[in-house]
Amino acid sequence: MKTVTLNDGNTMPVFGLGTWKSPKGEVSKAVAEALKVGYTHVDAAWIYQNEQEVGEGISEAMKAGVIARESLFVTSKLWNSFHQPEAVEKGCQESLNALGLDYLDLYLMHWPIAFKPEKSQHNQPEDFYSLGELPLSKTFEAMVQLREKGLVKSVGVSNFSRSKIEKVIAETGVVPAVNQVEMHPYNPQNELLDYCREKGIQVTAYSPLGSGDRPASMKAKDEPPLLENEDVIAIARKENLSPAQLLIAWAIDRGTIAIPKSTNAERIAENLAAAEHSLSAEARTALDNISIRYRYVSVSSWYFPGVTYEGEDFWS
Ligand code: A2P
Repeated sequence: MKTVTLNDGNTMPVFGLGTWKSPKGEVSKAVAEALKVGYTHVDAAWIYQNEQEVGEGISEAMKAGVIARESLFVTSKLWNSFHQPEAVEKGCQESLNALGLDYLDLYLMHWPIAFKPEKSQHNQPEDFYSLGELPLSKTFEAMVQLREKGLVKSVGVSNFSRSKIEKVIAETGVVPAVNQVEMHPYNPQNELLDYCREKGIQVTAYSPLGSGDRPASMKAKDEPPLLENEDVIAIARKENLSPAQLLIAWAIDRGTIAIPKSTNAERIAENLAAAEHSLSAEARTALDNISIRYRYVSVSSWYFPGVTYEGEDFWS
């Protein structure tokens, strides 16, 4: 498996198994299967509510001698309720305990959003700490301390725009190792990718297949399904790949890290094969030229100008 070197010297495989939306009853089997067929990287998060099952899959594979801890790369993410600096270690420890691990390879701040943990719902401005009250840099500094304590090897962010990354770097002096964001041909985020590249931040592409299995409540009525895009289907056919494989090969070809989710053994293997494919220049250009723009993951109930973001747009 091809790897990239992070700005802290650690290495990270460019392809891994996503576990968002993977049902508890299926995910341990999927993780064990993935590690058995050659995956070396699993992407998890506290909020996916399945870290214990992900951990069971990892443990099963390790017990079977399929993979050793030092050859495995595990990511988890700090949930929004743990942004207070004194809560950060607890958030991390809960993920470690659930996963059954004593360190994470990568720990990401899941969103640039700080929930007040005592609130059960987060849909009014007062349910959040504003960026002024609890700056992202304070949370990030506490995450850096986890690295110093040996609980995590690398620290990064997720769903961060350029301006939010710039602020964190200016206020902490630490450049996040990774920014994990939604990325696929409908949301290529070329400018953000260029900026991260310039800064030595690796970018992980989540929802690389368009996350068609999101719950109905997260879907817009007329959203365009990426895997059914006619160009994607036609280019894939020419390249001798399935549409999903094409999207994975494209993500890796443009220098990002892809973490497609699957709980199906055949598709788990199919996706891994795509990570080894060399994409033709024609296919790359054809996908780059897709002009439809769509973001599948919207968190509009968290959009409160002056509270959860500054400026005009949550993403800018
Ligand atoms: P399944 O888990 O049944 O395989 P994303 O990674 O963008 O969130 O997309 C995940 C969705 O894509 C899931 O519905 C998953 O279904 C599906 N999927 C994963 N791999 C493939 C594949 N090779 N072909 C078609 N669909 C896939």
